[in-house]
Amino acid sequence: MRELIGSVLLYLGALTAAEGGPLHEAVKSGDLTAIAAALDAGADIEEQDKGATPLFLAIRSGHPEAVELLIERGAGVNNQSAMGLPLTGAVLTNSVDLMRLLLAHGADPNAAARGERMLHFAVANGCLDCVKVLVEAGADVNAIWVRGDPARLPGIITPYHLAKHDDHADIAAYLLEHGVTISKPEPISAKLATGDPAKGKAFFAPNCSSCHVTRAQDIPTRAPNLWNVVGRDKASTKFSGYSQTLSAWEGSWTYEDLNIFLAGPTLTTPGVNMDVRGAPDEADRLDVIAYLRTLADTPVPLP
Ligand code: HEC
Repeated sequence: MRELIGSVLLYLGALTAAEGGPLHEAVKSGDLTAIAAALDAGADIEEQDKGATPLFLAIRSGHPEAVELLIERGAGVNNQSAMGLPLTGAVLTNSVDLMRLLLAHGADPNAAARGERMLHFAVANGCLDCVKVLVEAGADVNAIWVRGDPARLPGIITPYHLAKHDDHADIAAYLLEHGVTISKPEPISAKLATGDPAKGKAFFAPNCSSCHVTRAQDIPTRAPNLWNVVGRDKASTKFSGYSQTLSAWEGSWTYEDLNIFLAGPTLTTPGVNMDVRGAPDEADRLDVIAYLRTLADTPVPLP
């Protein structure tokens, strides 16, 4: 008898540990009566089971009525569980209706997971309807996601850059109509003579040389060879990784076009394959352009 009770208890213990309690079970099956009963019996509405709150679980299981009931009973729409925010669950599964529901109940359209906004997720998924729902709810179309280690040349990624880069033309057009700003630096022609090639070389080493080679005979790997870059046609060297965006930019590399591109490639020229910060500071840009000018047998005269 004792043995029997022992094994029954063990069995119940295993059951609750594995299933995470009656509330999570009820949410998974979308059983509204059982959810209400579990809450009435005192279940914690924010309790996490395998990293998921009941609300997160309801979203992932695709039960809008359970989502509504949980919110009504006090579940926090912006509460982060180990699995993420409730809205992340809806955005990652392209669940437009659930996104609408959460946003209508106060979910933050600008929420981020490790710096990546909901809008970036929606763009990366190629979900135009998701993008629209977020933008209509107030998502910032110019939000910058610093992708990667901030200390090691991270990507500077806006939703519009991502849409262009990943060939989501419909999303790119929609974003452009809804407030995307394209940066453009002040012209620098008059100041070019103040650029210092030695300082530019020192700036180039940590910020550019991990991708770009600069001697005529060097074979390019991650990025085009920059020997002779001033005055040559854009995207015209033997390099297989040019973007459509750069290839579509007509003309040769003038000092002013280098100024625009290097001020922040993804911000001035969204869609390019060089997604690092570049040289956003004008003084650095003048120096690095002065250095690029020296990468030629006969440097292009200053204007
Ligand atoms: C993470 C790698 C990476 C880093 C770092 C990087 N670039 Fe680039 N760069 C690229 C890639 C890739 C392209 C091709 C872009 C495209 O086709 O959209 C490119 C293109 C260019 C071009 C146009 C070349 C052509 O043939 O048209 C110039 C000029 C340039 N980079 C200068 C720089 C300078 C100056 C720096 C430092 C401030 C720098 N890059 C840092 C990867 C990088």
